[in-house]
Amino acid sequence: MRADVPRFADFERVVLFSGAGMSAESGVPTYRGAGGIWKQYDYRRYACQDAFDRDPEAVWEFHNFRRGLVGACAPNDGHRIVAQAQKALPCVDVVTQNIDGLHQLAGATHVVELHGSLWRLRCDACGATTHTRDAPLIDVHCPCGAFWRPAITWFGDPLDDAVFSEAARLIAGCDLFVAVGTSAVVYPAAALPQLAKRGGATMVEVNPEQTDASDLYSVHLRGTATEMLAKMAG
Ligand code: APR
Repeated sequence: MRADVPRFADFERVVLFSGAGMSAESGVPTYRGAGGIWKQYDYRRYACQDAFDRDPEAVWEFHNFRRGLVGACAPNDGHRIVAQAQKALPCVDVVTQNIDGLHQLAGATHVVELHGSLWRLRCDACGATTHTRDAPLIDVHCPCGAFWRPAITWFGDPLDDAVFSEAARLIAGCDLFVAVGTSAVVYPAAALPQLAKRGGATMVEVNPEQTDASDLYSVHLRGTATEMLAKMAG
């Protein structure tokens, strides 16, 4: 482990790759580990297309609960540091696995949402889409009468091809890759950091804990997102 902290300003093309730990200090629960969502809720009942086909009301109850919870959370200093770096430096891109929209609320302007957004809905019956950030609890029916579904990637769903390609392009071309707050166990997103490594980027992992992917990184910043991103921006 190297003790020195790479600075955003010393690189030309920075990609910040965020996971649930990025929003933990905002009060959004992570998925795994103590207090993780998937410890309390079985994703097979609440977060896959089969469950939605079987019992859309139960799936919506879970997602309306999450929308209420996440809707009450505000961006933290880590989100603000990233948004500020995007404004101050020529090329800082965010590729996030998060569906909470907190990077954008903090002012980030270019965010690739690999797993969609809790605040977008789509109707698979008529093809309608809508955006509902202002209403944490919603009528779960599309005007056509069918159920809306959250426009997010559930277990077993394919990722949007265009979104994944954009993420891969940015990551393959960066010279500083910073993974923040991800356990890096969910594919295909978890394969993306390898593109940065192959491209020769400086690889930084920000996480209070070791992860299954830690070996990929040359710099391990063992602390919280807010603390470590402040050092990288300093
Ligand atoms: N700062 C930085 N990292 C943190 C913090 C913090 N304050 N708190 C927790 N972490 C770390 C944990 O140590 C853990 O490694 O954040 C990571 C969160 O891991 P997960 O809960 O597995 O979240 P994530 O990697 O984003 O999950 C990936 O899984 O269920 C799917 O689609 C969902 O996008 C999600 C994907």
